[in-house]
Amino acid sequence: MSTGDFSGSESYLTDGDALRLLGNGRLEVAGRLVEASNLTLYCTVTLEGRSAACVYKPVRGERPLWDFPDGTLAAREVAAYEVSAATGWRIVPPTVYRDGPYGPGMCQLWVEPNREVDLVALVRSRNDPALRRMAVYDAVVNNADRKGGHLLPLRDGHIFGVDHGVCFAAEDKLRTVLWQWRGKPLLRESVRVLARLERDLDDGPLGRRLRELLTLREVTATWERVRRLLDTGVHPGPSGDWPAVPWPAI
Ligand SMILES: Nc1ncnc2c1ncn2[C@@H]1O[C@H](COP(=O)(O)OP(=O)(O)O)[C@@H](O)[C@H]1O
Ligand SMILES: [Mg+2]
Repeated sequence: MSTGDFSGSESYLTDGDALRLLGNGRLEVAGRLVEASNLTLYCTVTLEGRSAACVYKPVRGERPLWDFPDGTLAAREVAAYEVSAATGWRIVPPTVYRDGPYGPGMCQLWVEPNREVDLVALVRSRNDPALRRMAVYDAVVNNADRKGGHLLPLRDGHIFGVDHGVCFAAEDKLRTVLWQWRGKPLLRESVRVLARLERDLDDGPLGRRLRELLTLREVTATWERVRRLLDTGVHPGPSGDWPAVPWPAI
């Protein structure tokens, strides 16, 4: 499958090519993203004459959090990519776990967003199919930080999501700006994708891969969240015992 136009990065890179480049290319740090809360580095990665921009977050640069075990955020980001790839929804840009100049960490393809999109209006939209799929995806991965700035709308209408370090807690921690479909029936296409995910998590390559990246309890809880979505058939609402919206929201 083609990753489409990663303007500012290498265009027409397939996801497979991107993963190979990210995993095996020479990683060079070009700068630091100052608005980031962890050590998040803007890099170039080069292999056999091809290069692309990427984000590299070394485990060593992770800020300790009270509610997630230390040193686990990079693996959670890779797990988030694996779930995205299994859905076929292309929500997370290609992401790998690899060594780099500051030690092991996650490395993710840079995607250049359309900066003219009004993020406040976007997060309120009820009609955007990409956003609605993302709401389902976030419920699956238990995303605790889906804010407007973690949405990267492209010029072609596709929307990528980034910063999935605080996903996959075993307890419900869904914290998002995308509650507009709560209680609404899941679209048929989402149900189909969830049914496939359920099997893949239970007894397929996705379950095996996630068990390398997360604890067994976290993988089981992911499967349970998918089951719950299929059983209720609706988009979930806030649980009530956890702040439902991230701060700041954009
Ligand atoms: N793959 C990416 N492509 C383009 N921009 C990105 C990508 N990853 C992160 N960014 C940008 O960098 C900002 C900081 O990255 P983020 O992943 O949120 O870091 P942190 O974990 O430190 O909050 C994001 O809000 C987004 O604007
Ligand atoms: Mg962030």
